Amino acid sequence: MSAPTVPPPYTGRPVSTVAIVGAGSVGATLAYAALVRGAARRVVLYDINKAKVTAEAADIGHGIEFISQATIEGSDDIEICRDADLVVFTAGAKQDPGQPRMELAAKTVGLVKKVLPTLVDIAPNAIHMMVTNPVDVVTYAAQKITGLPSSQVFGSGTVLDSSRLRFEISKECGVAVQNVHAYVLGEHGDSEVPVWSSASIGGVPLLDWRGPGGSPLFTEEVRSRIGHDVVHAAYKIIEGKGATNYAVGLAVTRIIEAVLRNEHRVLPVSTRVDDEFLGISDVCLSMPTIVDARGARERLGVPMSQHELTLLRESATHIRDAARSLGF
Ligand code: 2OP
Repeated sequence: MSAPTVPPPYTGRPVSTVAIVGAGSVGATLAYAALVRGAARRVVLYDINKAKVTAEAADIGHGIEFISQATIEGSDDIEICRDADLVVFTAGAKQDPGQPRMELAAKTVGLVKKVLPTLVDIAPNAIHMMVTNPVDVVTYAAQKITGLPSSQVFGSGTVLDSSRLRFEISKECGVAVQNVHAYVLGEHGDSEVPVWSSASIGGVPLLDWRGPGGSPLFTEEVRSRIGHDVVHAAYKIIEGKGATNYAVGLAVTRIIEAVLRNEHRVLPVSTRVDDEFLGISDVCLSMPTIVDARGARERLGVPMSQHELTLLRESATHIRDAARSLGF
């Protein structure tokens, strides 16, 4: 019997490539989640730590047999990101227990300044998604550094925080998290704003939801407890295990799917906001936005109470001040 021949190189329709910058716990978990969910056919991991990036790619690669058809490669050479369709930036300073995300700004923005121009150079048509914290400041800096349109450089924003909020609401009312719709908007961080006034459960406005006995379930006390738990969720996890990685991996995978599958999904990603009606300008923060193959394409005006709008403006000021302090 003759030996099988090696097939000629594939020249057909290109496979979409997701390049993940940073093979830390977020980058590696994201690679794993994206492959397990079949969000990408080719994932490349780039990190300056050769031993770590090679090991992460090998460990994930050894499991490919058990998931959908896909490939994973890891390298300490940034060239691995060439011609990627989507570049996801997860590299940056690690958050210590109790440390606010904003304290990471100077270090992470320094890294973005150093690495992002090369990434844009070698993957000029890619959508660039920033995940590293403080993500809103990093996204604003990334847009200034690259000069690319806001749709093409955006941040993962409060997709994760909104999913934490939905999870907590779901636990409280006993309805599946998929039937709960609620956003956390503004900063991905301490000043973020849970928007209760437009939240709903199975189409019923959350504020009208009744508990046993018929009285409103989501009282001010309950909302304040849930809001506190959502804002402090990452602190609690970092206290317990040093970092958050699983939910962020899944949340960012959701955004990857929206881009690579051209899904027109509404997701609260971080983009530049210049909105006279909101009274917010020259800052990146999260608002519900249509995400598809063109990136973070169009922001929606979500109804909110005067109090929520005031909090959103305060959140914008907080982010803008942090960006200004770094010269952006
Ligand atoms: C998170 O919210 C730390 O930003 C990261 O899980």
